[in-house]
Amino acid sequence: MVENISILGSTGSIGTQTLEVIDNLQSIRVWGVSTNTRIDLLEEQIRKYRPVVAAVMDEDYAGELKDRVKDTNTRVVAGLDGLIEVSTIAQVEMVVTSVVGVVGLIPTLEAIKSGKHIALANKETLVTAGEIVMNEARMNKVAIIPVDSEHSAIFQCLKQNVEDKFVKKLIITASGGPFLGKKLEELENVTPEQALKHPKWNMGNKISIDSATLMNKGLEVIEAKWLFNIDLDRIQVLIHPQSIIHSMVEYIDHSIIAQLGVPDMKIPIQYAITYPERYYSDTRSLDFIQNNTLTFSQPDFETFKCLRLAYTAAREGGTMPAVLNAANEMAVQLFLEKRIGFIEIPQLIESAMKKHNNIINPSLRDILNSDSWAREVVRAERLGDSI
Ligand SMILES: NC(=O)c1ccc[n+]([C@@H]2O[C@H](COP(=O)([O-])OP(=O)(O)OC[C@H]3O[C@@H](n4cnc5c(N)ncnc54)[C@H](OP(=O)(O)O)[C@@H]3O)[C@@H](O)[C@H]2O)c1
Repeated sequence: MVENISILGSTGSIGTQTLEVIDNLQSIRVWGVSTNTRIDLLEEQIRKYRPVVAAVMDEDYAGELKDRVKDTNTRVVAGLDGLIEVSTIAQVEMVVTSVVGVVGLIPTLEAIKSGKHIALANKETLVTAGEIVMNEARMNKVAIIPVDSEHSAIFQCLKQNVEDKFVKKLIITASGGPFLGKKLEELENVTPEQALKHPKWNMGNKISIDSATLMNKGLEVIEAKWLFNIDLDRIQVLIHPQSIIHSMVEYIDHSIIAQLGVPDMKIPIQYAITYPERYYSDTRSLDFIQNNTLTFSQPDFETFKCLRLAYTAAREGGTMPAVLNAANEMAVQLFLEKRIGFIEIPQLIESAMKKHNNIINPSLRDILNSDSWAREVVRAERLGDSI
């Protein structure tokens, strides 16, 4: 197990649960923490964990926090450079990437380049630049260990060093989100409050909306493609509303190995940190008698178009997944601000994808440019500006 950790996005849902896991394990030192704007919580974390560096993305808030924690030995840094400092602290062995959105990409790449193992929650990193990130990890001999419950499940079901030729397919389960079973016309007037009410998981706002549109599952398919180096045709999405089976691997002899447990992110977070060892966890054990019905169905690709769009972007490759991701980040933000309806989310993403001149084998610069371009396209389309 690693002993020295930095957490990007320590004030979020995954970040705070990572700190609970660290409290339970008792032997880990936290060297770096970060937030976007929640400096009250970051101040509490600084006083409790005494990190050497704390990054605040927002420059004004960074200035305020610097003043507040003058009496500590923590250095407060700001902006993207600050996040990079947190992810490259010399003593750190593993960086938990739990910021939300593509902002996680550059600090994660810098962490990999400086030889840190990655506990990867930030799926947008692999969605946008999977090939570059996995190549960099191979070159620097660092492990990318999934935190996402589905990928953690697959990681646990794939015996280490098993030959790829034995794997028939990966089966990624999906709860279906709060609108499972609804048809498109029933989704026209749903509010952000309704969309944020996930039936099984308590998560940050962006991933909760992604779960309601099924974009989250699409992003996970792309993440799995890169993480496990497998063709899209061998990744199946299966609706499983109970969220007890977190995902499965089917082998060519039709033996299927599944990973099960209560829906609690502390389990995969802890496994990413302690891998390959296992430690006692303060989470609940799965009660099979209480959970005696497990059901499965096909996803509805017509109502939940985001899932289809994610498969399309992944098949086209190049800069298309970055465009899908950026358009989605913008559309989700507009929906949360009540400036667009729920069903406009896939419409805006599809429109940006149609307008995009895809760049195959993109550089990191091409990916970042495509990200900015897609955000501008969504903004312009929504606000009627010209670009
Ligand atoms: N939550 C889950 O159960 C779950 C499960 C699997 C995977 N994931 C993935 O894990 C990542 C984090 O999800 P989450 O639910 O923990 O999100 P969250 O609760 O919204 O937390 C995100 C963290 O990132 C920070 N942040 C947000 N915008 C930022 C920006 N522009 N620059 C720098 N920092 C920023 C936030 O700071 P503030 O506190 O100031 O906003 C917070 O610390 C996502 O990629 C998500 O897909 C989450």
